[in-house]
Amino acid sequence: MWNFHKLLEKHTMILIVGILIVVSLGGLVQITPLFFIESTIERVEGVRPYTPLELAGRQIYIREGCYTCHSQMIRPLRDEVERYGHYSLAAESMYDHPFQWGSKRTGPDLARVGGRYSDEWQRDHLINPRSVVPESVMPPYAFLQRADVDAGRAAAHLRANRVVGVPYTDDMVANAAGDMRTQGDPTAADYDAFTARYPNAVVRDFDGDPSRLTEMDALIAYLQHLGTGVDFSTYEAEAPGNLR
Ligand code: HEC
Repeated sequence: MWNFHKLLEKHTMILIVGILIVVSLGGLVQITPLFFIESTIERVEGVRPYTPLELAGRQIYIREGCYTCHSQMIRPLRDEVERYGHYSLAAESMYDHPFQWGSKRTGPDLARVGGRYSDEWQRDHLINPRSVVPESVMPPYAFLQRADVDAGRAAAHLRANRVVGVPYTDDMVANAAGDMRTQGDPTAADYDAFTARYPNAVVRDFDGDPSRLTEMDALIAYLQHLGTGVDFSTYEAEAPGNLR
């Protein structure tokens, strides 16, 4: 046994091959279960697929490169949990394609920014961050207020997400464009049908301009939804009541 080990220690190439074999085995043990992702992610009550408007906002978030300065994952470390709230659960990003976890934080983590500020604050901040946070280095995104969001793409966007496993129903796809407009209009007629499809979805005029549905509406709807799915006043890891 020890002579065998001597062989490993004396011959670099054999040692390297040995290390590669051991590391590959370890890697396989960790990576293989992830291919069966259904059983890897614990389903948690309250997490639902994004509404068409939130999904459009998420697309704008990616397009504008918000992820280059903001992460969306709270690590289970004391300083992070005290600053941002409960650490992120895998289930909270199970419908994210692509996920926005990141690790670059020029600005704060946004995983639980939903509900932290009013829509007005979010709009003022996006138009000119310095108007509400004087020392901010975040760039302004005022043009979002002037660009109409494209409802014509909503159904295709939902279908694309369905291909990668998000459980959008035929009903959701068929009503995608209408649902997008409904979420930005509190007086819309199909309010009830919309909230039945997307429980806990907030219906509001997010950008303060009821005459149009803008990219600002979509981005704020998305931001206000972040981290609000799971009720952490009752959530307990492993508690059967929280699992679907
Ligand atoms: C160049 C880096 C940078 C980029 C790009 C950037 N931000 Fe920020 N962001 C910051 C910084 C720094 C702060 C902290 C100061 C402040 O509140 O403005 C911040 C703060 C925020 C906050 C408030 C968070 C809190 O908890 O107080 C939100 C919301 C936000 N950003 C959203 C966005 C969105 C949405 C985008 C893309 C449209 C974006 N940011 C792009 C740097 C950036």
